[in-house]
Amino acid sequence: MATSLEVRGVSLRFGGVRALTDVSFAIGEGELFSIIGPNGAGKTSIVNCISGRYKPTEGQLFYQDRDITGLTPNARASLGIGRTFQNLALFHHMSVLDNIMVGRHHLLKNNFLTGSLYWLTGARKEELEHRRKVEEIIDFLDLQSVRKATAGTLSYGLRKRVELARAMALEPRLILLDEPMAGMNFEEKEDMARYIVDLNEEFGMTVVMIEHDMGVVMDISHRVMVLDFGKKIAEGDPAAVLADPHVKRAYLGEEDEVLVDPDDARPAQESAA
Ligand SMILES: Nc1ncnc2c1ncn2[C@@H]1O[C@H](COP(=O)(O)OP(=O)(O)OP(=O)(O)O)[C@@H](O)[C@H]1O
Ligand SMILES: [Mg+2]
Repeated sequence: MATSLEVRGVSLRFGGVRALTDVSFAIGEGELFSIIGPNGAGKTSIVNCISGRYKPTEGQLFYQDRDITGLTPNARASLGIGRTFQNLALFHHMSVLDNIMVGRHHLLKNNFLTGSLYWLTGARKEELEHRRKVEEIIDFLDLQSVRKATAGTLSYGLRKRVELARAMALEPRLILLDEPMAGMNFEEKEDMARYIVDLNEEFGMTVVMIEHDMGVVMDISHRVMVLDFGKKIAEGDPAAVLADPHVKRAYLGEEDEVLVDPDDARPAQESAA
């Protein structure tokens, strides 16, 4: 399996805060890879380092064997790295269709900046091709009934789906999903999980997903990595990772107490040492 992404020794500091410390991992082409960990563990930070929003204090990132550490977010998007955000980042006053079109702007060759003579010949064809792609995504995500609706008027679950549509519109090879199911009800989560599996299997996109719902993570991930206080504490097969005592301990006191065997519980002084 060819490598899609390699993160090598990435550390990230914000003043005195160590958001990430020496994190390394690699993701194969076509993998569905999940990142889990308690709140503040550094999950969004690592995704921001991959997308280019944050520059690591130390370490390097490689995408398809190319060093992307110094590239801007736009340059990374053009190489095929797409993303969604933990907090919705839609244009609320715009239609669903237009929000998805925005996702294609990295792929626009003809715009008002590139020669107007070309406009009559190339632009029309290009526009049609964009429309066709956008319609394909609308079909895929079952958004036909809301395509003309104003994004801001939709339910939370639908808005998350529109955001996924916009990320897909870039036609990424690698897609970064930051809590795609947060705040959803059970049914919406099930739908979203199915779309993610399908975009991985049908579109062949490599997926990096941050998710708190362990049921979903177990169900759909090929591999899982666990961050805790900015450090990688486990990585591998989902079932094995969740059975790992270090991982159970990291979640101690978190909502997922079902993960914790009573035998693994330790007094606070000991686990802090
Ligand atoms: N822009 C920033 N400026 C300062 N500190 C930051 C910034 N971004 C993240 N941090 C800090 O880095 C650490 C990791 O944050 P991050 O958002 O990556 O965690 P997370 O695992 O995504 O948490 P959550 O599950 O709550 O989304 C936290 O201590 C956070 O406060
Ligand atoms: Mg986060």
